[in-house]
Amino acid sequence: EKGGFEHFMLKEIYEQPRSIKDCMRGRIYPEEGKVQLGGIKEFAEKLKNIDRIIIVACGTSWHAGLVGEYLIEEYARIPVEVEYASEFRYRNPIITEKDVVIAISQSGETADTMAAIEMAKEKGATIFGICNVAGASIPRLTHAGVYTHAGPEIGVASTKAFTAQVTVLTLMAFYMAQQKGTITTSKMIELLTELDNIPEKIQMSLESNDLIKEVAAQIKDSTNCLFLGRGSGFPVALEGALKLKEISYIHAEGYPAAEMKHGPIALIDEEMPVVFIATQNSSYEKVISNIQEVKARKGKVIAIVTQGDTEVKKMADYCIEIPDANEAFLPLLATIPLQLLSYHIAVMRGCNVDQPRNLAKSVTVE
Ligand code: M6R
Repeated sequence: EKGGFEHFMLKEIYEQPRSIKDCMRGRIYPEEGKVQLGGIKEFAEKLKNIDRIIIVACGTSWHAGLVGEYLIEEYARIPVEVEYASEFRYRNPIITEKDVVIAISQSGETADTMAAIEMAKEKGATIFGICNVAGASIPRLTHAGVYTHAGPEIGVASTKAFTAQVTVLTLMAFYMAQQKGTITTSKMIELLTELDNIPEKIQMSLESNDLIKEVAAQIKDSTNCLFLGRGSGFPVALEGALKLKEISYIHAEGYPAAEMKHGPIALIDEEMPVVFIATQNSSYEKVISNIQEVKARKGKVIAIVTQGDTEVKKMADYCIEIPDANEAFLPLLATIPLQLLSYHIAVMRGCNVDQPRNLAKSVTVE
């Protein structure tokens, strides 16, 4: 049942080229520069005139929401707020009939996310769901939605469901942009052609597995670890940190790289590994100066870099390459090595990776 893999988590990490392909199937038309999302088609007109979107979720799904915020604002130019479902529901939030709420949940059974949906629905908002489990409670509560089609996820640590959620949010961002006319057809052709090739690039990222294992061996005995990124690399850093803490029990934190100097920099010494998302995109130069700040304090730098990078390689202790891609697709690619890194560290520490202590696959209590 684990398909020859030692753990479900590893199997699910390796399934990602296929799960992302399944998630896009019948939804993207690169040659025409079109996205079709049957699940929310009925609301196509409404999407032209909405003032804002509120995304509600918990845990890893909330991280996917942060990536969604970046993409929807960038391409569809609709303001987005991303809320922890548990905070949102207890706050008497301001919601109107003009709002669209997107609830993201792998299991479709998370109690706080369900309660947030019920509240927003009462106040008249339109609710979209992004779920993995067909027929679960959340898809039954929403007005419309888009399934992630990642297939059953058994490992408690979410991996392929996360990248499928990010894929759906990418499609939603492009779909909304298409409806609102904030994107040209030629730009859509360019983006969708590239998106179509992302599964292959994920396959290439998986080929760094042996190198990642070596890096894991070097940092497995750490008690703390920092993950830093900018732009859409920030939610990737948060997700990398969550993965490491939940399965290896190493204390890890994700931060926007520029926030390091406002506090976490005090933690850095030769015992502290710092994982940077340092790919070649709009924030590359800025991230490089953050790496210098860490090296000046003798921190151990592990960097996720674009294939062929030379600058970061001069400074970092370990570099893990991912294929070059448009910034929009960076979260999909940069997440893969971080999943593998936490997996190997957890295995080396003798942890139960598929069923970490104190955690359940779906959190049905409030
Ligand atoms: O099923 P959901 O996506 O609603 O679950 C939300 C969180 O409980 C979940 O993502 C959790 O953080 C995972 N264990 C992360 O790997």
